[in-house]
Amino acid sequence: MALPNAVDSTQELLNAQSHVWNLIFSYISSMSLKSAIQLGIPDAIHKHNKPITLSQLADALSINKAKSPALFRLMRILVHSKIFDKVKIEHEEEAYSLTRASRLLLRDEPLSFAPFALAMIDPIIADPFHNVTEWFKDECTSPFSTRNGSGLFEFIGNDRVFNQVFNEGMASDARFVGSILVEKCKHVFEGLTTLVDVGGGTGTVAKIVADAFPGLKCAVLELPYVVAGLEGSENLRFVSGDMLEFIPPADAVFFKWIFHDWSDEDCIKILERCKEAIFPSKEKGGKVIIVEMVVDCEKQEDEGIETQLCMDMLMMTVTTGKERSEKEWAKLFAAAGFPNYKITPILGLRSVIEVFLS
Ligand SMILES: C[S@@+](CC[C@H](N)C(=O)[O-])C[C@H]1O[C@@H](n2cnc3c(N)ncnc32)[C@H](O)[C@@H]1O
Repeated sequence: MALPNAVDSTQELLNAQSHVWNLIFSYISSMSLKSAIQLGIPDAIHKHNKPITLSQLADALSINKAKSPALFRLMRILVHSKIFDKVKIEHEEEAYSLTRASRLLLRDEPLSFAPFALAMIDPIIADPFHNVTEWFKDECTSPFSTRNGSGLFEFIGNDRVFNQVFNEGMASDARFVGSILVEKCKHVFEGLTTLVDVGGGTGTVAKIVADAFPGLKCAVLELPYVVAGLEGSENLRFVSGDMLEFIPPADAVFFKWIFHDWSDEDCIKILERCKEAIFPSKEKGGKVIIVEMVVDCEKQEDEGIETQLCMDMLMMTVTTGKERSEKEWAKLFAAAGFPNYKITPILGLRSVIEVFLS
C-alpha cells in the first residue's frame, strides 16, 4: 500500500495504526493489573493510610530495590488506567492513592474481587485464547477443549489447585452480588419457603440469602468435587449432583452465572429439570431466578457493551455457552415451556431474571 500524499490521509493512517496498536497491546493492561494484585500494591497503599511515595511503596512491597524504576513504570500505566491516583504531597513529591476501582481489589475488603480477577487472568483461562483460530477449524466444542482435551468443569475437577483458585474467584463475585441481592432485591426471595442454588459453588450466595431470610430453607446443588467436605447450617445444605440429571424440589430455583456456560440445547434441558423441581404456582412463588447478562448492543454505554462482548468471547472460548440478548433468553424460556419472565436490570452489567411457569 502506498503512503497517501495528503496530510489528512496520513493522519487518518496514523490514527488507524494507533487504534490497532491499542487493541494489540490491550492484554498488557490486564497483565499489569494482575501484577499489581499479586504484589499486593492496593493493600500496601491502603495500609499506609495516606498517599504513598514510590520508595515507601517499594519498601512496603519488599521488592528487589533494583526494580524500583520498573515499579514506577507499572504504577504509571495503572494510574493511566485509573486503577490508582497520583497526587502531590509536601515538597511537590508525587505519591499514589487508591481509587474506587482499586478499593475493590483489597484482599481484606468484604466485597473484594481480587480473587475473581486472579482466576480470570490465570493462564488456564487465558491460554485457550491462543487456540481460537485452531478451534474454528476443528471438531472440538470449545477452544478450551482444543487446548486441554476436556471441557472446563472436567478439567477443574482434575486440578486441585485451579479448583481452589476458580472457586475462590467465583465466591468473591458471589459475595458482591449476594450482598446487593439481599439489599436491593428482597422482593425476589420474599414469600419463598425453599430455594435451591444450582451450581452455587461453595455456597456464598446461598449463605447470604439463608442468613438474610432465616425462615427460608436453602440448598446448593453442585458437582461432587466442589462441595466435598462443605458443611451446611440450620437452613443451608449442600447436595452433590448433576443439574442436567436432577434438581432437588424447591419453591424457586436460583442460578447465578450458569446458563452462560451452556449451549441452548443444554440450557433447555436444565430448564426442563427446573420444571420438574418447582412445586407451587406463580402466585405462591414458584419460579426460576437467574442472575446473568442481558446483552443489548443498542442501549449500553461503550465500556459496558465492550465488557459484555468480552464476556461472550470468554464463554465461547472456555465453555460451550454464550451471553444472551433478551430475544435469545425469551426463546430459551419459551422452548422449555416457561411463557413469562421479568427482567430487573439491577446489577450493573447483569440483571435478575425471574422466569415463571404461568
Ligand atoms: C461459573 S461457575 C458459577 C458459580 C456460582 N453460581 C457463582 O456465580 O458464583 C459455574 C458453576 O457450575 C458448576 N457446575 C458445572 N457443571 C455442573 C453440573 N453438571 N451440575 C451442577 N453444577 C455444575 C461448577 O462447578 C461451577 O461452580
